Amino acid sequence: MSASREHFSSRIGFILAAAGSAVGIGNLVGFPVNAAKNGGGAFLLMYALFVFLICLPVMIAEMAVGRNTAKEPVGAFKTLSKGSKLWGAAGFLGVLTPFMIAVFYMVITVWIFGYIALTVTGHLDYLASDVGFGEFINSPYLYIALIAVAGIVSFILAAGVKDGIEKAAKILMPALLTMLILMVVFVLSLDNAMAGVTFFLVPDINKITPSVVNGALSQAFFSLSLGMGILLTYGSYINKQTNIPNSAKLVAITDTSVAFIAGLMILPAVFSFNPEVNPSELSDSSVSLIFTFLPKIFLALQTSLGYVGASAVAAFFFLLVFFAAITSLVSIIEVPVSYLVTEKKHSRKKALGYLTLTAGVLTLFATASFGMVPFFTEFTSYAGGTKSLFDVIYDVFYDTILPLNGFLLCIFVSYRWKKKQLSEELSIGNENYKGSWVEKYINFSLGTFIPVIVLLIFINTVATKFFAANLFGF
Ligand code: PFF
Repeated sequence: MSASREHFSSRIGFILAAAGSAVGIGNLVGFPVNAAKNGGGAFLLMYALFVFLICLPVMIAEMAVGRNTAKEPVGAFKTLSKGSKLWGAAGFLGVLTPFMIAVFYMVITVWIFGYIALTVTGHLDYLASDVGFGEFINSPYLYIALIAVAGIVSFILAAGVKDGIEKAAKILMPALLTMLILMVVFVLSLDNAMAGVTFFLVPDINKITPSVVNGALSQAFFSLSLGMGILLTYGSYINKQTNIPNSAKLVAITDTSVAFIAGLMILPAVFSFNPEVNPSELSDSSVSLIFTFLPKIFLALQTSLGYVGASAVAAFFFLLVFFAAITSLVSIIEVPVSYLVTEKKHSRKKALGYLTLTAGVLTLFATASFGMVPFFTEFTSYAGGTKSLFDVIYDVFYDTILPLNGFLLCIFVSYRWKKKQLSEELSIGNENYKGSWVEKYINFSLGTFIPVIVLLIFINTVATKFFAANLFGF
């Protein structure tokens, strides 16, 4: 099977695809608000340190495991542990997690698609109204949007690694970067924009509390698409000439740069809309920011651009977010696709068919969990609150299992596969790797403080999310 495994056609194709996975809604909206609220420049510096000192070694390890085994998480863990059932189960978690995250990410991507459709058809004022979002998420038209989004993602994935994933990334990523820069230039030309830039960048060390540190690290971890089996699977499609540490570094730099540049778009826009705004009052959730606050900002542009102009800017922004979401969705669904193809020996088309159906039905349920269907809306309750199906998927897989997967990967690579094998793999395509300080740092950190830190995050998240108990004061 591995002999016939498809490969990315070039190193740049691989880097764009991996960056396409990493650059997502979190970068464009979540990061800027988080940074502005939590210490500005001080947060940025801390975030960058986390990306390079903690997340990058994990990313490199994921890619190395993938390339070495030419398999997805289940096959890779099984192969390198010589068939251990326990590690096979850890690998399975690495396939189940992306499947479930894909469901919740799909719901949001469907909304974005709906927002594009509504803005281009002249309904920006409705989306900006107080009832807009609440009614929108319960609209039966969302099911048409779901079919459209599932169709686009399946279309890309059906064409395979080179002609699907890589080609889409080669088109969408440059488009996304160009659109982002254009948006930044436009937003910076608005009145009061500089107040937003100041808020984004001026360091305020007093805001750096333990919970902010925890939040920054989690954000960095998610933003680089770690713990989702994605980079492991993409790593299985790269050739032996590729220099993994260098490629991973470029992915991390791209992802962090996009997050940073997005800050120069979102915050100046917020300030030009309302110069009196206090960013600490902005909602923590990217979702409410994108879907309820930003439409109001876009609508306010009508005084200078007219309604059509304001709608065009809004549509342009939502398209930008949509591109980012599609490349991330493609990457995450590729993990279970690859599992069904490699381990279960299904054809790619059949695997995609199964996944579109199962993930599609779950997405349908999750979409209906905002009021449409009471069973899914009041699905369960924990930590003193009623939770919808969407909340449960988000809390369990996105918030909780990701750090656990990261922990398991570090332990697996360091103590089961062993650092020596990791070094061997990473020196392929990188002659200077062995003996370098990068090698020493990676081997040391992956076996010591990185797993400890992600384990602490996991334990703390379980305690706070499910038992409303804050163990470590963060
Ligand atoms: N790095 C992505 C983001 O910041 O949005 C994380 C991600 C989430 C990737 C969901 C893929 C995905 F389906």
